[in-house]
Order: sequence, then structure tokens, then C-alpha cells
Amino acid sequence: MQAIEILEREHHLVLHLLECLEVVVNEAEGKGQLRSPHAAEILSLMEFFADGSHQRKEEEGLFSRLLRRAALSQRLYVGRLFADHARDRHDLRSLHSNLMGAVYGDPLSTREFVVRSRRYILSHRKHMGREQVVLYPMAERLLDERDDAMIVRGFAAIDNGLPPGLDLATKVRGLCARVGVGFREERLPPAAFAEMAG
Ligand SMILES: [Fe+2]
Ligand SMILES: [Fe+2]
Repeated sequence: MQAIEILEREHHLVLHLLECLEVVVNEAEGKGQLRSPHAAEILSLMEFFADGSHQRKEEEGLFSRLLRRAALSQRLYVGRLFADHARDRHDLRSLHSNLMGAVYGDPLSTREFVVRSRRYILSHRKHMGREQVVLYPMAERLLDERDDAMIVRGFAAIDNGLPPGLDLATKVRGLCARVGVGFREERLPPAAFAEMAG
């Protein structure tokens, strides 16, 4: 499915964003100082891309289409992933607030940023693992070509609402270079996602 290919390509970028956040958090923990411009850039990409346009594509396109076709147990699984999205967005708001406190100079905010970021990274990876190991294969089984075409049209409409000229892949690569994360051209193998899913 073209829709799944698009979402998996986006996961590849989100994984790099989480690695960037991990580097920034490790430094903050080691030195007690947060590289706030990098942290702000990562949070901005998480908000507008990972927890923003990517989650909208899943919720408004893939999940809602799947809910029409899936059996009860499968619908419950989709519901859990919806709940993950809501929790991610809530946690991200707390991270923003911690970052502002850290910029202000509050050491407690820096410590909270570290602890919350670690939880956020872990839960995001687990969520993406579950999508790639369980949900996307479920979509491949239950949805047909017409579903795929409709979902991809919806994705295009969401992308049309992004800032003009925005190239997310280039933006993430640039961030990786500045933070010191090597950008992998190859996507991770299915076994890596299975491990993340837990
Ligand atoms: Fe998701
Ligand atoms: Fe996803």
C-alpha cells in the first residue's frame, strides 16, 4: 500500500528525531545544561510533524478507514493507538513547559525535561513498533486499492497545509548533523521494530 509506504518513510524521520532528543537529553543529564536551541527545534518538529501531520494522517486516514473494516478486537487495538497519540501530545506539552523553565534557569525543570523526555522517547518507539509490526500489516490485509487511493488523497490534503517549501527530510537531516546523530539512509529491519514494540 502506498499509504503505508508514506507512513513508514515518516517513521524513519521520527526515529532520527528521537535519537536527536536522546543525545540532547544525555548531554543535559551529564552536564546539567540543556542545549535549548536544539531541544526547541526537536520539540517543534515533534509537535508539527511527528505528533502533528503524521498522527493526523494516521488518525484521519488510516485508523478511521480501518475502524470501518476491522473486527472488534482489531478495533480495540486501533483504539489503543489513538490513545497513545493523545498521551504523546499531552506529554509534549509538558516537555515544552519544562524547556521554558530550563531556559529560564530552573535546574528542576532541566531534570524534569530529562526524565519526561526519556519516557516520551520510549513510548514513541514502542508505539511506532506496534504500528509497524501489528497495525500496518493489518491494514495491508483489510484494506483494498480503493481504500489506499482515498487515504493517500487525504495525506496529500494534509501535506498541502504544511508551510510552503517545507522539506521535512532535509530539515531532519540538518538537525541530525547539528546535534551529532548520523543519518541512516537504510530503514531499520522489521526485527528492530518488533524489539521496540516489546
Ligand atoms: Fe501513530
Ligand atoms: Fe506512526
